[in-house]
Amino acid sequence: MEAVILLGAPGAGKGTAAEGIIQHTDYVHLATGNLLREAIAAGTELGRKAKAFMSEGELVPDDVVMGMVTERFAGGPSDAHYLCDGFPRTVEQARLLDGIFNKINARLRFVFVLEAPPEVSVMRISGRRICKDCGAVYHVTNIPPRVEGVCDSCGGELYQRVDDNEETVRNRLEVYRRQTASLVDYYDKKGLLTRIDASGHHEGVEKEILGYLSAEQGT
Ligand code: AP5
Repeated sequence: MEAVILLGAPGAGKGTAAEGIIQHTDYVHLATGNLLREAIAAGTELGRKAKAFMSEGELVPDDVVMGMVTERFAGGPSDAHYLCDGFPRTVEQARLLDGIFNKINARLRFVFVLEAPPEVSVMRISGRRICKDCGAVYHVTNIPPRVEGVCDSCGGELYQRVDDNEETVRNRLEVYRRQTASLVDYYDKKGLLTRIDASGHHEGVEKEILGYLSAEQGT
């Protein structure tokens, strides 16, 4: 098994880049935010534990997230390639992930940190719209659907996430600064970090990441 991690503040474009990358590679998108939202929608115990933290923009406790991710890894094929989006999110999660990978002899190939200024994050998140049926992500002005409120891919209705209001977004940015930003140093010290300027067009971001992945594959 091997993995690539996409780090970055809320709205940096991790999910959008991940969707582009998986179309050109055999990586499986593992987005803890999506898994937690699915658990809430399904009304599971995990979802009940996560709901209040998520609606406030706080992190879900490490043990809840690690239980969910460990289950995912255990249920997948041993040669799977994972594109981790929004995970790990704390140094504790990163250490536990290192422990899992050491135990199963898995390899962490790259950690990409997507960098964009906070105002860009707020602007992107406040205009984000998601398809209720297939999960495709749009932005009202940056990446608009052809017909307002309707998904280009499947015709599903577009909605806005409950935590995508300005107050919660500002808290999520503060939580990122306090609890997640130190992972940049953590992975830099391990020689795994690559910085990506994510303030430009999403296709440029995807292309740059794909370039790193294929360059390493070719060596
Ligand atoms: P999560 O779902 O991971 O949200 P997030 O990290 O806040 O990230 P976002 O999804 O908001 O941003 P993104 O970077 O993916 O941006 P996107 O590509 O969509 O987490 C939500 C919550 O779950 C957390 O607050 C926490 O409570 C909990 N949680 C999740 N994982 C956890 C963990 N490991 N531990 C503990 N708790 C956890 O883009 C945003 C918008 O911008 C879109 O509209 C898009 O169309 C547009 N856009 C994207 N890229 C570009 C671009 N280059 N140019 C122009 N527009 C762009």
